[in-house]
Amino acid sequence: MEMQVFESRAAAERDVAREIAGLVRRRPDAVLGLATGNTPTGVYAELARLRREEGLDLSRVRTFNLDEYCGLAPTNPRSFRAWMERELFVPAGIALDRVCFPDGFEAGHPVRVEELPRVCDAFERAIRDAGGIDLQLLGIGRNGHIGFNEPGSTRASRTRRVELHPWTREDAAAEFGGLEHVPTHAITMGVATILEARAVRVLAFGAKKRALVRRTLDTANDPAWPASFLCAHAGVRLVVDREAAT
Ligand code: F6R
Repeated sequence: MEMQVFESRAAAERDVAREIAGLVRRRPDAVLGLATGNTPTGVYAELARLRREEGLDLSRVRTFNLDEYCGLAPTNPRSFRAWMERELFVPAGIALDRVCFPDGFEAGHPVRVEELPRVCDAFERAIRDAGGIDLQLLGIGRNGHIGFNEPGSTRASRTRRVELHPWTREDAAAEFGGLEHVPTHAITMGVATILEARAVRVLAFGAKKRALVRRTLDTANDPAWPASFLCAHAGVRLVVDREAAT
C-alpha cells in the first residue's frame, strides 16, 4: 500500500481536497464515498473553502456515506446524515437529493430489522447504478475498522446491519452524552463494497493513529484488522501527517 507523508495535517487535507476538486472539475457528476468522524473534517472544510473562494461547483456530485447508526432518523441531529449536512453538504453546496446513506429509513420511517437486507441491497444497487464510487474517503478506527466493518468482518462482506464493537461505542459516548445513549447497531458498507471503489484515500492524522498506521501497513487480509483488506487494492493511498507516519 502506498503511503504519502505530509509535513502537516493541513497540507494533507489540502492535497486530498485538491484531488477531489480535480476529479469533480473533470467529471461534475463524480461519485464520492464519504466518511464521518474527526479525520475528514479538514478536507470537508477545504472543499467548502474551494467553493467559496474558487467557485468549485459540487452541485452535481453523487455521494454515498459509509455508514449510519440504526434507529436514528436522518433528521436526528446526532445522525451521520445531519453531521454531513453541517460539515460538508450545505457549506460545499452538495445537492441534498444526490446524497445517499445506508440509514434503514424509508419515507421517514424506520424499516423493520427483517427488512433491512432489502434496504442494504438497494443501497448496493444505487452505488452500481451511479456507475460505482470514483473516490472513497476512509478513516481507521482504533480496532482497525473501516466504515463500521468491525474485527471479524470478511473480505466478501457487503452492506449490512452490524453490532458495534465496545470501543466504537465508547468513542461515540461523548457525542451522545453517555455510553448508554450510543446505538448498539449500525448499517455499514461492506469491505467488498469499499474495495470496489476505483480510488481509496485512507486518512490518518496525529500520534494517536501511528500504531494503527503501522499495523495497517504490516498486516494483509486479516479479519482481525479489517483495514488490512485494503492491501489488495491497487488504487489505495494512505495519507498521513508526520505524527502518524511510522
Ligand atoms: C466514519 C467511519 C469510521 C471512522 C473511524 C475513525 O464514517 O466509518 O470508520 O472513519 O472510526 O474515526 P475518527 O476519524 O473519528 O478517528
